Amino acid sequence: MSFAYVDDVLPGHGSLPPRAWYAASSAGSLSLNGQWRFRLAPAVDTYDESFAAEGYEADGWSEVTVPGHWVLQGDGAFGSPAYTNHLYPFPVDPPHVPTENPTGDHLRTFDLPDEWPADGAATLRFDGVESCARVWLNGTDIGEFKGSRLPHEFAVGHLLRPAGNVLAVRVHQWSSGSYLEDQDQWWLPGIFRDVTLLHRPADCALDFFVHAAYDHTTGTGTLRVDSDVDGRIAVPELGVDAATGDAVTVPVEPWTAETPRLYAGTLDTGGERVPLRIGFRTVVLDPADGLIKVNGTPVLFKGVNRHEWHPEHGRALDLETMRRDVELMKEHHINAVRTSHYPPHPAFLDLCDEYGLWVIDECDLETHGFIEQGWRDNPADDDRWTPALLDRAARMVERDKNHPSVVLWSLGNEAGTGRGLTAMAEWIRGRDPERLIHYEGDLNCRDTDVYSRMYADHAEVERVGRGLDGGPASRRALPFILCEYAHAMGNGPGGLADYQRLFETYDRLQGAFVWEWIDHGVKDEGRYGYAYGGDFGEELHDGNFVCDGLLFPDRTPSPGLVEFGKVIEPVRITVDAAAGTVRVTNRYDFRDLSHLSFTWSYEVEGEAVEAGTLSVPRLGPGEAAEVKLPPSPDGGQWTVRARDADGQEVAWGQSAAPSLPVQPERFEERPVRAGRLVTLGPAAFDARTGALRTVGGVEVVAPRLDVWRAPTDNDEGGSWQGRERLGLQWREFGLHRMQHRLDGVELGDDALTVRTRVAPAGRDIGLRTVYRWTADAERLRLTVSVAPEGDWRIPLPRLGVRLGLPGGADAVRWFGGGPGEAYPDTRSAARLGVWRSDVDALQTPYVRPQENGARADVRWAELGGLRIDGDPEFWFTARRWTTEHLDAAAHRTDLVPGDTVWVNLDHAQQGIGSQSCGPGVLPQYRLTPSPAQFAFTFRVLA
Ligand code: GAL
Repeated sequence: MSFAYVDDVLPGHGSLPPRAWYAASSAGSLSLNGQWRFRLAPAVDTYDESFAAEGYEADGWSEVTVPGHWVLQGDGAFGSPAYTNHLYPFPVDPPHVPTENPTGDHLRTFDLPDEWPADGAATLRFDGVESCARVWLNGTDIGEFKGSRLPHEFAVGHLLRPAGNVLAVRVHQWSSGSYLEDQDQWWLPGIFRDVTLLHRPADCALDFFVHAAYDHTTGTGTLRVDSDVDGRIAVPELGVDAATGDAVTVPVEPWTAETPRLYAGTLDTGGERVPLRIGFRTVVLDPADGLIKVNGTPVLFKGVNRHEWHPEHGRALDLETMRRDVELMKEHHINAVRTSHYPPHPAFLDLCDEYGLWVIDECDLETHGFIEQGWRDNPADDDRWTPALLDRAARMVERDKNHPSVVLWSLGNEAGTGRGLTAMAEWIRGRDPERLIHYEGDLNCRDTDVYSRMYADHAEVERVGRGLDGGPASRRALPFILCEYAHAMGNGPGGLADYQRLFETYDRLQGAFVWEWIDHGVKDEGRYGYAYGGDFGEELHDGNFVCDGLLFPDRTPSPGLVEFGKVIEPVRITVDAAAGTVRVTNRYDFRDLSHLSFTWSYEVEGEAVEAGTLSVPRLGPGEAAEVKLPPSPDGGQWTVRARDADGQEVAWGQSAAPSLPVQPERFEERPVRAGRLVTLGPAAFDARTGALRTVGGVEVVAPRLDVWRAPTDNDEGGSWQGRERLGLQWREFGLHRMQHRLDGVELGDDALTVRTRVAPAGRDIGLRTVYRWTADAERLRLTVSVAPEGDWRIPLPRLGVRLGLPGGADAVRWFGGGPGEAYPDTRSAARLGVWRSDVDALQTPYVRPQENGARADVRWAELGGLRIDGDPEFWFTARRWTTEHLDAAAHRTDLVPGDTVWVNLDHAQQGIGSQSCGPGVLPQYRLTPSPAQFAFTFRVLA
């Protein structure tokens, strides 16, 4: 037995040269997906190769589903997933991997369909196997390969027979290839993409390259299909019928991500007809201004990084899941995807062509773990590995080159710098000079067409926008993108709108890609809800850093996605109530607004009292117009919406919120002592402590000052960051265990005043807090005055009061920002209105529980039979557990409802930022302790 191939740096043996992928053609094919016999071994040499021989009886073997990862099947019998961010989960001694190398033997028999032609040639295609596979067909060893998220094909026709074919695949979890696949994700071995047998008739298509350029100066497209096998190209809609290799120029509608115009065509090589979907577009880096242009127009990427993820199937995605991703992206106005950090299932790119998304197609290459040794021995800078790197580059480019959506090739992610990367770039440029090259890891941009960074803060991005970033002159001439920003881990990301303003201000900033699209939580209903790193007992792991997406694992949009969708919406609507106008700006790069219709509504106290349509001129890309609104009385608010032909809202804007009504009423009831109680208007208090007991008969846990929030992932901050990590500092200062000292309870003529000092043990900082209670016959008003004392060096998590209501409190109605969660730097999507919900639905189910659920700008809220009016507006949060419980919870399943509904009424909140892997909260969203006064009026609802 030889297993030398496992450790060999070379990519493999026996496979065919890479070529273009297509979903279907006139040639027959046979899917070999389905149930396969399966046997797992702890090491490469546990079993010999006899299982691959003819006549082997797989008695006692289990089964797995292909495509799939064995660690996600078999209820734990086949090992477990393991998550590390950048550390290799084995000793770093390239190219060697551990003896304990889980090895899955897969067996499947198949018959050829009756109609399968007897003429022989056939190709066996693996679209993705992690990380190394050796393949036998009918007892013959046909080769082995590495490159997990890349296709590998073998010529097998000579081995096939009509019935009883035996396909044996031995898959090793670890191989030299693992050193090149150190992406921040779960390690998930298995045959996780399709296995297909393709009939190859005589004169079938081999490789072909569709070149479809668009000349924006003439409105014509030029089509040329280069094909290894000569044939004809037909595009009936364009009247094109040409020989392969010939260029044809015709008037066309161009393809863009906004207008994904595809023309159906065919390549006919005599033996095979391959359907083509042709999108005409030309991508350049314009030397005149250093901008990326498509069809002559600079583009602004409003992108996401997409890993492939399904909470039950890992990276084995079905077509519907891929389609769902694309639909959700389009619904939220996302126009670009970076396929972090490997070429996706090829069908995903078909969807990008069809729906319209700009794609940065990234190679399956990351060697991040070498950073631990200062990049010594990095395969990306070691000639011995270059063939493997070039193999990966070629497999990506050849597979995906016919997709109009792909506009940039990315060499990989976090692979340091080196000769191997340069070799990849040179090869790609030679093969496909019609696209641009991306790679983030080389600050000198030696091999790339774009200066790309990750997580640069706003100030730096602005410097780059102004061209003040220094660096080599060659880099200064390049456009800038953030290939990763706005780390969407847990609650957040904050600061999106502030980034977007920069991207829209400076031409050089051509957009950015949120990290990342979806939380990679592993479904584990009973125990955790969703599992993350460490939940499988991994020796090394990075916890919930794997749950940092805009979607929850089940693809429910998180508030972060709603916020992002609002920030990047393609029409900006700015309503100026005082001037009676609305300014509409077209923020598309290519489209006019003729596909949208506009309406206005005029709302008083959040309820629409009048509505109508608004006629907006046909604005071209980048154009703006001011449109008059109908005359209106004062005191209300305008909402203007743009909808598409299906009635889907595409954009909205509201006028500034009307000011809160002044409270002309007087609160003149007198507090009266009655035994152990003090009564005041509708309320009763504990006479000794001054704590509120009941209001209008409703028993409450008395409101008192609260500054604590369950630190978010962004509060906690990345451990490697030199920056201020607030989660830690807040605990260090004791903000989670504030003591409330009672300094006095005073009964005045028209007020009950309770004086306190709220402060943590062991520190001299504190908050002098005075609660002043006043009332009339029905209403009780609490005015809170806070004065910080001592040297507060840190912002407060929040500033407000927390009270408890009886557990029956459920339905919630409020007039304020909604419908979703918002914090100071994540509030773009909150619109003022009257909203209804219930306590459970107010919660945002972050995979690792943390502060969530605040509603912004609340004027009043009704809950548990009480109405609470704010003066001024407040942040409203209600939940069935305390903040302390939320803080202690590690998984959703740790949150167990108690008997009390805890309500936070906050005067202020600290912003969110994205410091879980990026910059913290911008200064304007920081809650610096300072004297404050705020009030709430409580009354029992009739
Ligand atoms: C980047 C990396 C991503 C991911 C992210 C943090 O450095 O490229 O793969 O690890 O940080 O979530």
